[in-house]
Amino acid sequence: MNFDPSLIEILQDAKSVVVVTGSGISSESGVPTFRGEDGLWKTYRAEELATMQAFISNPELVWEWYDWRRGLISKASPNPAHKIIAEMESRYPEFLLVTQNVDGLHRKAGSKHIVEIHGNIRLVRCMEEGKEFFLEENPLSQLPPTCDCGALLRPAVVWFGEMLPVEALATAQEHIQKADLLITVGTSGVVYPVAHFPMLAKGTGARVIEINMERTPISSIADFTVLGKAGEVLPELWKASL
Ligand code: OAD
Repeated sequence: MNFDPSLIEILQDAKSVVVVTGSGISSESGVPTFRGEDGLWKTYRAEELATMQAFISNPELVWEWYDWRRGLISKASPNPAHKIIAEMESRYPEFLLVTQNVDGLHRKAGSKHIVEIHGNIRLVRCMEEGKEFFLEENPLSQLPPTCDCGALLRPAVVWFGEMLPVEALATAQEHIQKADLLITVGTSGVVYPVAHFPMLAKGTGARVIEINMERTPISSIADFTVLGKAGEVLPELWKASL
């Protein structure tokens, strides 16, 4: 791949970097994205599966869907894009990875400075006590699963209409405001507040690089949009910047 020399320079000169990832980074690991041709929201309706209202009216159906996704994800392994992002941590003095993905593949790849801003699909939360813990059983023997206290457990992920975890959002915004480079990978850039992050970064003078299979609303403000598969583009880009 041939890259614009100023794109490589941006990667070489950066000191404070934030990487924002979306479901596209995991598609080469076999985890379906939400939007696009084979996206989950083509087959399923978000409002019937990923909202508190849906959960209250049919917890079994919601859990069936999450149990199926938990199964897919448990079989998935990180791909070269996850691995390069894990490597980036040791190169930049300031680094934060903000992922909208709940699949845990970044941690599997070795990322440590990470904010899982939409939660983690292996985590569950008691509807009564609010406590969170990892529930590894898959497939679940009981749908919907319940807590020791008898209350329903829900997936500890962010659903539509819910606030993002306050601390995670604050950490992300803090890093973005002092970043000199923000890189988005495999996100459609339509779900707020994360969709606003590139604009926030531009507002404080950072450069924005986007890696995606297609152009998105982020493309219009990005300094560079590199079109291609994250698992192919990122390793090449990284090698060229060493
Ligand atoms: P989307 O499914 O909206 O977008 C995935 C993006 O990845 C698209 O722009 C694709 O073009 C791109 N893409 C697909 N394969 C790729 C690849 N191999 N390399 C690079 N790019 C690729 O996913 P998100 O932006 O993560 O929220 O969606 C954000 C949120 O919407 C999700 O966290 C989820 C969803 O509804 C909730 O469930 C609350």
